[in-house]
Amino acid sequence: MNNNVETVVAELLGEVECRLAEATQAPSPFLADAARHVTLAGGKRFRPLLVILAALLAGADERRTDVLTVLPTPEIGMCGTGLLTADVRKRVVAASAVVELTHVASLYHDDVMDEATLRRGVMSANLHYGNTAAILVGDFLFAQASIIGADLGSEFVALQAATFAQLVQGQIAETRGPTLGEDPLLHYRQVVANKTASLIRTSILFGGMIAGLPEPQLAALERFGEKIGTAFQLADDLIDITSDVAGKDSGLDLRVGLATLPVLLLRESDNPADHALYAKVLQGLSLDETESVVAALRTHPVIAQARAQIVELAESARAELHNLAQCAARDQLCRLCDEAVNRMH
Ligand code: FPP
Ligand code: MG
Repeated sequence: MNNNVETVVAELLGEVECRLAEATQAPSPFLADAARHVTLAGGKRFRPLLVILAALLAGADERRTDVLTVLPTPEIGMCGTGLLTADVRKRVVAASAVVELTHVASLYHDDVMDEATLRRGVMSANLHYGNTAAILVGDFLFAQASIIGADLGSEFVALQAATFAQLVQGQIAETRGPTLGEDPLLHYRQVVANKTASLIRTSILFGGMIAGLPEPQLAALERFGEKIGTAFQLADDLIDITSDVAGKDSGLDLRVGLATLPVLLLRESDNPADHALYAKVLQGLSLDETESVVAALRTHPVIAQARAQIVELAESARAELHNLAQCAARDQLCRLCDEAVNRMH
């Protein structure tokens, strides 16, 4: 990464950590403790990174004196990094906190629904504090996100609320499964679009909105967010089968009868044994059965097929960035496409 961009991103991510710590304060020590438990346990901070990188794209346009304090160096391909005005930096940090808090709030709820035991390398909040507290802490974090979002303006609150509605729709659709006659693969892609890609798209849009990027660039970023968000969730679902993920329960999807991409590809196969395996997963599996199904899937061609789909999606996401001015922040967004692919290996 360009040195300037690297420094600015690290600085801003540090400020986001402080904002998150602030947002988890509460009059009740129990609530504050439970709110900090997962929020400050680490995590990739992928959504804040997207807000920051999208905002830094403004630096590629040297005429943007409204968001940049100093003109960027004339060197071709350099963003005006580090030169965002204090006000823009503040808004970037706030928007990053909004998306991360919304995400973490959804994880508190998700872990209750999944009966998870681990999250971000620590005991999940549902296990540590009980389901009721975990649900309420998720609500608290979501409220904190809304409070911070209100300072950014009504268009930010409206977008966050619409995204929240999408998260819920995705989660409900996943819980209920495909309706009668609905293509399970299309249903799955819709679930992924709603429960994951929506917030990732919003994160990158927030950054672009703060930077005041023109409409065609915002539209390109939106498409990029949708695609990279989908690729990340598909990769996440694949990893649930292919590796023993540190800090998270693995094989969880299979245990609860959730068919993700590799399993859904079994359904498309010509081999009756694959159909039988598919039907078995849909019934939900015991711990022992999960182990044997995981072992069978790990050596099955559906894994390579799923990987190929994720690579294609990541490439398509990268292509959305082609019409944006070349700069270090854009290069970094491109690198996230590689990361979506690399984490599967
Ligand atoms: C994790 O998916 C869960 C989500 C991406 C979204 C969950 C959404 C809700 C619970 C709706 C309520 C939202 C709010 C803001 C309170 P996963 O289970 O596939 O991932 P995992 O393997 O990390 O658990
Ligand atoms: Mg989960």
